[in-house]
Amino acid sequence: MRTVAILTAAGSGSRLGSDRPKALVELAGEPLVVHAARALLCAVALDRLVVTAPAASVEDVAGALATVRSGPVHGGVRCEVDVVPGGPSRQASVAAGLASLGDAGLAADDVVLVHDAARPLVGHATVRRVVDGARRHGAVVPGLAVADTVKVVDEDGRVTGTPDRRTLRAVQTPQGFTWAVLSRAHEAGRHRADDEATAATDDAGLVEDLGLPVHVVVGDAHALKITTTADLELAERLLSRAGTDR
Ligand code: CTP
Ligand code: MG
Repeated sequence: MRTVAILTAAGSGSRLGSDRPKALVELAGEPLVVHAARALLCAVALDRLVVTAPAASVEDVAGALATVRSGPVHGGVRCEVDVVPGGPSRQASVAAGLASLGDAGLAADDVVLVHDAARPLVGHATVRRVVDGARRHGAVVPGLAVADTVKVVDEDGRVTGTPDRRTLRAVQTPQGFTWAVLSRAHEAGRHRADDEATAATDDAGLVEDLGLPVHVVVGDAHALKITTTADLELAERLLSRAGTDR
């Protein structure tokens, strides 16, 4: 059974407000996309990695990944790394990655990881849990218990409900699926992909819409998502501290 990955890096990073796409913003001297790609490649033996980039930055992202291509990888087996232009939403970018994997001759039960360049600090143990879980269950997300009480609100900001916190998980990436499940889910959700407002915010959501089961494995407390400059500063501090599970 093979394992491949799609790394989404085609967003602009509007909330970060940098002069370059978020995936090329540096953390501890290296672009976010480099950290994220290395986290995957060093955790598991990947057969292929497809990275989505903004159309105008395909060459820059490919150039940044040169260091990863020649660096250490799990099991010492070289993996093919492709960079393809993404789409108008994250969902569309993952679909572009899937299309690029179409010629890889994947079997129905081969595993596809989908990871965000915006989560550069994911630990190896978490990536392995997701791959193992995807083989067993077909669709898996890493998740953490929620510390905050979460409210549901309507358009006027009026609270309409308070879900039982014990039933909530904040989910992360990489999410893991069999090729058959993920390609079917994206095919079924294709009509939503052209606009970020209608698109799925994660791939598991598309699988849920099919009525297929999605399981949660334990996520990674260090794998914060880089959205704002405050997140970037926190990630710098986490990286400079010893003792993470990386
Ligand atoms: N992404 C993508 N294609 C898009 C939009 C997002 O590949 N059209 C990727 C981003 O590069 C990121 C991940 O999806 O790795 C999660 O998106 P997000 O954190 O929202 O990043 P951006 O869309 O770049 O940031 P913002 O929403 O602030 O513009
Ligand atoms: Mg976005």
